[in-house]
Amino acid sequence: MSRFDAAKYRADFPILKRLVRGKPLAYLDNAATTQKPRQVIEFLTRFYETHNANVHRGVHTLSEESTNLAEAARGKLALFVGAPKPETLIFTRNATESLNLIAHSWARKFLKAGDTILSTEMEHHSNIVPWQMLAAERGIKLEFVPVELDGTLDLAKVKAALAKGPKLFTFTALSNAIGTVNPVLELIKLGKAAGAVVSVDACQWAPHKPMDLKSWGADFVSFSAHKMLGPTGVGVLWGREELLDAMDPFLGGGDMISRVTLEKSTWNELPYKFEAGTPNFADQAAFAPALDYLSDVGLDAISAHEHELAEKARAILEAEGMTVLGPKDPAKRSGVVSFNVPGLHPHDVGTAFDLEGVAVRVGHHCCQPLMHQLQCGGTARASFYLYNDQSDVDSFARALKRTLEFFRVGPKAGVS
Ligand code: ALA
Repeated sequence: MSRFDAAKYRADFPILKRLVRGKPLAYLDNAATTQKPRQVIEFLTRFYETHNANVHRGVHTLSEESTNLAEAARGKLALFVGAPKPETLIFTRNATESLNLIAHSWARKFLKAGDTILSTEMEHHSNIVPWQMLAAERGIKLEFVPVELDGTLDLAKVKAALAKGPKLFTFTALSNAIGTVNPVLELIKLGKAAGAVVSVDACQWAPHKPMDLKSWGADFVSFSAHKMLGPTGVGVLWGREELLDAMDPFLGGGDMISRVTLEKSTWNELPYKFEAGTPNFADQAAFAPALDYLSDVGLDAISAHEHELAEKARAILEAEGMTVLGPKDPAKRSGVVSFNVPGLHPHDVGTAFDLEGVAVRVGHHCCQPLMHQLQCGGTARASFYLYNDQSDVDSFARALKRTLEFFRVGPKAGVS
């Protein structure tokens, strides 16, 4: 094991002390949402106990404090992701809303019938459905780069699809369902060279790997706080300033206006043009201690640590003859291990693992087209994070062993 001090970090996460079905919790569902350190939990409590007031509306002390804390988080986030300006970071409810915002406010205004949007077969439904809705409404064409059977994208196929001149290229940086790490910089470069506007779904990248939006060169990047130790209900859309300026608002109402008369309204400056209504300011403010926590540990160290644990889990699965999805090459893999037990439905695997206190996600992971391409209905998925350690890998191995014994399935039992 590396010198990464997971035990120290683990102690900061109260929920990891609980038992599940009488067993110590092994929380391996971090791709769905991460647990929160007490630094974030205590910040939120303190916020409500001492600063709570609506933001951007009052001159009173509490409103100013609340506004400053919410905006401080935006400033911290700008440094964390290398955004050129804090105001190019829009707070949404979640990354799904961020992607819908692009569809509504950029694509609806700038794409016309006959234009093509290019995505990939590896995407989360959030990066498919908004485009399908728009395509149906506006006569826009949708194309998808196929995913290879090893769960990777073939760059030659990406280039061929881009050569047809799509107006938008929108793809995931890292697959939530099978953990493939895409060559994000290369994909952005190819998209831009082809003249497309490039949108990156960085939900599974931002919590695990460093990003520098200034040097990435994309046009839109979406992610969310709850997968980064932060509170739920805070999504992020980063956009290139000139695109955000040219876009129309997403929702209309309070805070997003400059002036309203009964005849017409004009729009507020960035980022507020896209943040109608009372924002989720308390959770937004509490994103700051989460970012501090991640900065203190270091994303490179987190990435190496979870990769090491995930590779151990993969070795255990492969030794038992289980089907592990995604690339064989460890360099193309992340902290996600998606697998199937031959002869068992993933839901049975998940239930059996839960009996051992091991939390894994099962099903299609909101990626039905990807599952279809990989010729399975779903998988069981273990996803590791900074507070996981060898004890979680041991629990995972024990849960697998008990599952195979209980159901008497898998290649070694002769049932597959
Ligand atoms: N998209 C999240 C996941 O993969 C919820 O679990």
